[in-house]
Amino acid sequence: MVGLGPKRKPSRKGSMADVPKTLLEEIQNLEDIFTVDADRLKLVTEHFVSELKAGLEKDGQNIPMNPTWCMAFPDGNEQGTFLALDMGGTNLRVCEITLTEEKGEFDIIQSKYRMPEELKTGTAEELWEYIADCLQQFIEYHHEDGDLTALPLGFTFSYPATQDFIDHGVLQRWTKGFDISGVEGNDVVPQFQAALDARGLPVKLAALINDTTGTLIASAYTDQTMRVGCIFGTGCNAAYMENCGSIPKLKHLNLPPDTPMAINCEYGAFDNEHKVLPITKYDTIIDETSPRPGQQAFEKMVAGLYLGEIFRLVLVDLHENKNLLFEGQDISKLKKPYTLDASFLAHIEEDPFENLQETQDKFEDELKINASKPELELCRRLAELIGTRAARLSACGVAAICKKTGTESCHVGADGSVFTKYPHFKARGAVALREILDWPKGKKDPIVMLPSEDGSGVGAALIAALTLKRIKEGNIAGVRNVQKYDIWMK
Ligand code: GLC
Repeated sequence: MVGLGPKRKPSRKGSMADVPKTLLEEIQNLEDIFTVDADRLKLVTEHFVSELKAGLEKDGQNIPMNPTWCMAFPDGNEQGTFLALDMGGTNLRVCEITLTEEKGEFDIIQSKYRMPEELKTGTAEELWEYIADCLQQFIEYHHEDGDLTALPLGFTFSYPATQDFIDHGVLQRWTKGFDISGVEGNDVVPQFQAALDARGLPVKLAALINDTTGTLIASAYTDQTMRVGCIFGTGCNAAYMENCGSIPKLKHLNLPPDTPMAINCEYGAFDNEHKVLPITKYDTIIDETSPRPGQQAFEKMVAGLYLGEIFRLVLVDLHENKNLLFEGQDISKLKKPYTLDASFLAHIEEDPFENLQETQDKFEDELKINASKPELELCRRLAELIGTRAARLSACGVAAICKKTGTESCHVGADGSVFTKYPHFKARGAVALREILDWPKGKKDPIVMLPSEDGSGVGAALIAALTLKRIKEGNIAGVRNVQKYDIWMK
């Protein structure tokens, strides 16, 4: 291992033997800028706790800490049939979910539709029309005979929204590369409902939901020790239950202090001032070229939408400015922004061959680049560094919520393509949690992140069910118009 310090281990023993000195030095440099050690993780977590607290104090802080009006965990006995609509970054999913008599069980039918890329930079009207079209198709397909009566709908809208009521949500700003005009600063519910009503669809929105809150509630349906719901996917965020008494910005509402309230943290916006995050020049480019510079600083370092882009920016820099990679080759395909997604990195990390044959094929097939073995070694190490940094930083958000709430042991439900599919993400995150929270070695981890797939469907149905239940019981906090819910009160 020429040129690498004694403490640094190569990713695979002996694999760097043929790597020339200049590339080894560059690998060392990349290790220096992308490695986040335990001390830095602790620092990030401390600052994270203070930003979570600030967001609960007052509006307009970095981390918005949005109250969601989801005010209870499910007990497993919820029942009824609900529609759930999930507007994700890639897909739109419509589900019909029946929470059955058996505790914690449900039946589901669902259809997936692609979110067309051009919709993400289009107009509000185009967005709502498209969503209403999909819902209409779903209803026509599954209820040909028109046997559907105003089912309550839970709409999973996974963007930061201020909710004064459960069926209300003023979009604070688009995230995850969306840039649709006419929505920011507006309540999305009337826009959405108007598109459904214009088509005469027998559907009424009962609750607007964030995917993290859906994940929290869906995972708590079958596991009473779930305390946090996280998404590590295109974006990155978490929700957890706070007591109303610990939310100073809601004091004026005089809610009972010990009543729970799910908080959608929106912590992708953590440290927008870059006080503690170990920002590299590549992160700066990502931010500056995004539709919303200065926002979602944390998300831009850890979420799936950006991992491939960080990797791509490094390779382009090493080719163009340092003449270290792919000398004399046409890298025009690689030069296209966002041409690589997180799955490209995942494939590289998963390449089982010592000579990185699969990685070489991928470069050849997708980028028309013929990468040499040493270049492939650098790419492999870079993918590991970017994937590891994401997993380790992600753990800071979870650790911060647990510290803030004094939670010493619990389960954390996690969903999203990075969590479920990215190699070693779970294990790397678990190691980082251990380092941050100083758990003794050799003992079982007291806080464990577990996969909780499908929060967006079941979670939305459960939150709609919980809302109807509490209205029936007379808790109408955060309900704008109680009469609207009369149709479901039988
Ligand atoms: C972005 C969104 C947030 C969502 C997360 C995961 O951070 O702003 O609402 O929960 O992505 O999808």
